[in-house]
Amino acid sequence: MTEPMNASDIRSAVRERYGRYAESEPARSSCGCGPSDCCESESVESSIQWYDEASLVDLPEDVTGLSLGCGDPVTLAELQPGQTVLDLGSGGGIDCFLAARKVGPTGYVIGVDMTPAMLEKARANQGKMSAENVDFRLGEIEHLPVADASVDVIISNCVINLSPDKPQVFREAYRVLKPGGRLAVSDMVTDGPLPEYIKTNLSAWAGCVAGALDIHDYIAAIEAAGFVNVNYTAEYFPAEMVDQAVEELGETIRFEDRTDPSIYRALFSARISGYKPG
Ligand SMILES: C[S@@+](CC[C@H](N)C(=O)[O-])C[C@H]1O[C@@H](n2cnc3c(N)ncnc32)[C@H](O)[C@@H]1O
Repeated sequence: MTEPMNASDIRSAVRERYGRYAESEPARSSCGCGPSDCCESESVESSIQWYDEASLVDLPEDVTGLSLGCGDPVTLAELQPGQTVLDLGSGGGIDCFLAARKVGPTGYVIGVDMTPAMLEKARANQGKMSAENVDFRLGEIEHLPVADASVDVIISNCVINLSPDKPQVFREAYRVLKPGGRLAVSDMVTDGPLPEYIKTNLSAWAGCVAGALDIHDYIAAIEAAGFVNVNYTAEYFPAEMVDQAVEELGETIRFEDRTDPSIYRALFSARISGYKPG
């Protein structure tokens, strides 16, 4: 499709795709964000590749199987006991459960997601894990069901790229953080603009590619919301995953673009951190 997309089309496509993942049995952890549309293939790395294996050993398969992220924001956030944490786009709940362990019984974790089927899975997983300090809420990250200045740390894993209004997501994050609070995000970003045919493809949007912002615009949007000390590090995808994505794009990608070595660094997973001034 080539006509301009509106926010409501994007939200519907995203909700539909992640609703399908939530309802699929068994869950397919590699079908979330990435350069390749893994729903058409099985050979991509799983999203749990981003985590330290030791942190996953006693998580139920229903939790790891629905991991659809592109990083490990819980480690990035350096959580402390007693903190209140908010996960934007909590999906099946993996980062909420890992965060709940770090903040302990005196801490609290809120997960917000707009896809009812995902929320249902997350709550079922919560029952299996007896994670009493976790609260899953239905809502959009552009309009958070969370009180002003009530959260110590916000985490998010491969979600903000899916939003049709990213500046509003960062304004909401700023609103709900306490002064001095931290934003710790893993997300898909680009180095330079994406070609138009990818930006206007709803499936590519729902696969976390078309909505990915240039890293400099992403950082600028966070700073525009009021955050300070914003910085990032890049993690690149394995070359074979990029090759596979290029193959799937087939004729739609020009030969000279296909053979340009910068294609391996055009889309990457960023670990982004910033603070609300104290
Ligand atoms: C790629 S999955 C990541 C899920 C989870 N963070 C993880 O790492 O497994 C994206 C999730 O974000 C949710 N989502 C996407 N856009 C959203 C929005 N605007 N508001 C709330 N949730 C959203 C989807 O429903 C889906 O569960």
